[in-house]
Amino acid sequence: MMHAIETVDLAKTVGAGRRLFGDLRMAVAPGEVVAIVGESGVGKSTLLNILAGLDDADTGEVRIEGTALGPLDEAGRTRLRRERIGFVFQAFHILPYLTLEQNVALPLALISPDATAARSRARAMLADVGLGDRGADYARDLSGGELQRVAIARALVHRPAVILADEPTGNLDPDTANRILDLFARTVRSENAAAVIVTHSAATAAVADRLLTLTRSGLVAGHG
Ligand SMILES: Nc1ncnc2c1ncn2[C@@H]1O[C@H](COP(=O)(O)OP(=O)(O)O)[C@@H](O)[C@H]1O
Ligand SMILES: [Mg+2]
Repeated sequence: MMHAIETVDLAKTVGAGRRLFGDLRMAVAPGEVVAIVGESGVGKSTLLNILAGLDDADTGEVRIEGTALGPLDEAGRTRLRRERIGFVFQAFHILPYLTLEQNVALPLALISPDATAARSRARAMLADVGLGDRGADYARDLSGGELQRVAIARALVHRPAVILADEPTGNLDPDTANRILDLFARTVRSENAAAVIVTHSAATAAVADRLLTLTRSGLVAGHG
């Protein structure tokens, strides 16, 4: 079976020889949610940037649906990222002066000229995250939890193979965070995407099918 995302012996050293991780091997299947947990500063965001082709590993390889990122030029990486990867970040990156429908449709607008189809898919994704009647509202009027639901809809709107999430509920209260995480995992599975969530939060990790731990010594250990 082809994995949605796969790493082979990925290693990254920063600063004066500080190894963030070494020989990192992981493979995530469509519909699977993997959490990578670790304290602040262990290299989680760096790893996610490497998985997205936004940063380079020292050695090793990242493959998205079998395509190695390393040999691609910048244009090729950008295209693959736009078409096959969705992102969810703690700070949302939802644009306040666009409507929810416009925000969610944005990733599709970047890769397809069919604006009508983009709007209709955006409305369907908003409905999936419980905001079906809010498409015409401006993002500036939403709560943090609502914005994060918009971010989930936007991350999945273009049917990416891979969702990369960095501390996706970091600035939400625990109850809201738990509801959003449930929704995130359910939506990822129903869209048959593969998700990698990096987080320092054990609660976030609880929604995952699989857990990897990144430590200060660069160790990555699997649990189940
Ligand atoms: N390109 C780089 N050069 C030097 N140091 C870096 C670089 N990238 C990350 N770091 C350092 O690596 C460590 C891990 O950072 P980060 O990936 O943001 O950790 P986390 O997301 O787990 O909190 C930090 O100490 C950061 O300063
Ligand atoms: Mg981080």
